[in-house]
Amino acid sequence: MILDEEKQLKKLDTDNMLQAISDFPAQIESCWKQMKSFSIPTHYIQAKNIIILGMGGSAIGGALVSSFVLKKSRVPIFVHRDYDLPVFVGSDTLVIGVSYSGNTEETISGFEKAGQLTNKLIGISTGGQLGSLCRKFRAPFFEINYGSQPRAALGYLLTAVLGIATKLGFIEVEDHEINEAIVLLKAMEGKIHPGVRAAQNQAKQLADRLRDKTPIIIGSGELSEVARRWKTQFNENSKQVAHFEILPEVNHNAIVGLDFPKKLSEKIFVILLQSKFSHPRVKIREQVTLQLFQQRKIQYETIYLQSATTPLNEMLLAIFLGDYVSYYLAMLNAVNPTTIEPINYLKDRLAASK
Ligand code: F6R
Repeated sequence: MILDEEKQLKKLDTDNMLQAISDFPAQIESCWKQMKSFSIPTHYIQAKNIIILGMGGSAIGGALVSSFVLKKSRVPIFVHRDYDLPVFVGSDTLVIGVSYSGNTEETISGFEKAGQLTNKLIGISTGGQLGSLCRKFRAPFFEINYGSQPRAALGYLLTAVLGIATKLGFIEVEDHEINEAIVLLKAMEGKIHPGVRAAQNQAKQLADRLRDKTPIIIGSGELSEVARRWKTQFNENSKQVAHFEILPEVNHNAIVGLDFPKKLSEKIFVILLQSKFSHPRVKIREQVTLQLFQQRKIQYETIYLQSATTPLNEMLLAIFLGDYVSYYLAMLNAVNPTTIEPINYLKDRLAASK
């Protein structure tokens, strides 16, 4: 199998996406340390709601954190993936603008407006226009110094938002929880890195089952946004169509839409991300949902993060596994996992139309 030939993988992965994927635990570790010296003005604690502005690979970190803190935070957290701002944004809102490049126009348009409405702004970026706006509004700016694609810097983008929410007391995350997550991630990597042959490698095996299929990833609770991350990594790294669904919502519509197009069962492959920490009724729903797939001969695989001890490290383990699967699928599709030609084309055309 090509996935066991490391030289072949290097030939396809000319921009070394593998390194960035494997850096995920190190990114988390380094960002968590950096956050210790990141200072945020004390009046930010008074925020009554939080909005995170971002798109694509820069939005997902905030979305993952918001799915994790939803049931724990004393203030609501929203992710806004669009131009401008929702009308509720005002002087009580903490606005966190996240853009790896710092130049994503949707994010910039909202951040510019936010500067007129609230004095609680934070930017997370490598620089760009977002960096300039933070200087203009005298807002704290968390600078990322890591050369990669935005989606490959998730360890930074996610940990920065988590660190801000913790510093402001909206949630509690202790150092030992981060350290434990890093240990578990490194242990997982030992089992799924390219040096582990396909016969023993869960990520390689799953990628192989996804060849020529449309993956549909289903997640619930803290793993809902992880399902989206798997989908977007299949899109951008593997250049493959993919969709995601959220449980229990999936039980109220998607399970009815399994009869057409004809021969659907040959085309799709369901990945069910099962959380140790999900609602007991969700666990029953998962079993019944799988029965419905069996009855229709739809192929599926369940992912259960055996080593997870908390919702936070379960979420991080699930992200890491998905990133590796998307990488191996890119290799099977014989594509460079780093390139994103259609996104560049689109951004160039938009820039030309200004
Ligand atoms: C690229 C990627 C994209 C970008 C998005 C926004 O790796 O994942 O989804 O994240 O186009 O750009 P930035 O992150 O620069 O704001």
